[in-house]
Amino acid sequence: MVNLLKLLKLLFLRRRSKEGGVDVTKLKLPDRVKAPNAIGNSSPKGGIGKTTIQLESGVQLVLRGKNVIFIDWDIMSPRLSLRLLKELKSGPSLVKVLIGLIDITEAVQETVITGKRGSVTVYVVPAVTEEDIPDNINRLLEEMNEPSKVIKIVTKMKGSVEKLAKEYDVVFNDYPVPSWATYYTYQHLLSTTSSWINLLSDSNPNMIQLIAQLHQRYTKNIPVLGTIINMVRPTPEELNRAKEYALGLCKEVNGRVAMAIPFDGKLYDVFAEGLASPASLNYPPESSPALMLIKKFVDVLEEVVEGGSPPQKCEVFSPTH
Ligand SMILES: Nc1ncnc2c1ncn2[C@@H]1O[C@H](COP(=O)(O)OP(=O)(O)O)[C@@H](O)[C@H]1O
Ligand SMILES: [Mg+2]
Repeated sequence: MVNLLKLLKLLFLRRRSKEGGVDVTKLKLPDRVKAPNAIGNSSPKGGIGKTTIQLESGVQLVLRGKNVIFIDWDIMSPRLSLRLLKELKSGPSLVKVLIGLIDITEAVQETVITGKRGSVTVYVVPAVTEEDIPDNINRLLEEMNEPSKVIKIVTKMKGSVEKLAKEYDVVFNDYPVPSWATYYTYQHLLSTTSSWINLLSDSNPNMIQLIAQLHQRYTKNIPVLGTIINMVRPTPEELNRAKEYALGLCKEVNGRVAMAIPFDGKLYDVFAEGLASPASLNYPPESSPALMLIKKFVDVLEEVVEGGSPPQKCEVFSPTH
């Protein structure tokens, strides 16, 4: 009996050492980026406006004279890259950076986006191009699943953001939606690449509670800047309730700003002929309560990316004041 146990132990140890003897839960990962100007949006809910709010904020920051770069981390659904670059056939991509083919600085694309009210230049690291499928994507997924390589890739993610944070006034991390199947990678990504995150939700109280718990459990090393309830039915009752929810979430996660953004057709980006340019380039902020709220949030963003302090306690933003 004892021998059998010994044998099992030996077999177990052999298997572990064949995998490199690495226990993924005990890896020493790098700390979060030190720069104050790397901002990410996070939510377990897909299609809740992470990309939209980030893009509108980014464009408004460019209109204020800031140099803004977006990193599209959403390799499976590179919507931000599509909105900014229209097509993604070949060329540099985040995938190529992460598997070591190119440096992040070589993956930056300059692009001019145009709306009815003018044009702005932004910079973007596209997530993926068609030529990355399937070989480069396969390589990345294999490496992310190899415990001995995880630290190397996470270190590269962080180093890449740090490099861009020195060159640009604002780095926006456009994260994908996490799922249980990739949560470990997601957690690493978030924990190292942003100086601040915003948490987004819809108005559903159960969802909001879940988001608070996920944050406490997995990402609480990253300070929360905004708690944002987005796509709220634009009635005073719904907006007031959503504002209360945003404040509740904000308090639970020690956030700094809470707001409820109404659903507003001006922010909806889908047209039959292609994706729309940002609302901030097409409409004056005063014409849209959603844009007005984003504008107030951009005041705070401007402050923190310059190394200043946001409100110390949750401040509730309403479109009317
Ligand atoms: N406040 C809003 N009002 C109207 N449409 C919105 C609003 N916020 C986001 N959208 C739209 O919802 C869809 C999903 O938004 P997106 O930013 O792509 O979500 P995510 O990045 O969280 O997956 C897009 O079509 C976007 O234009
Ligand atoms: Mg998105």
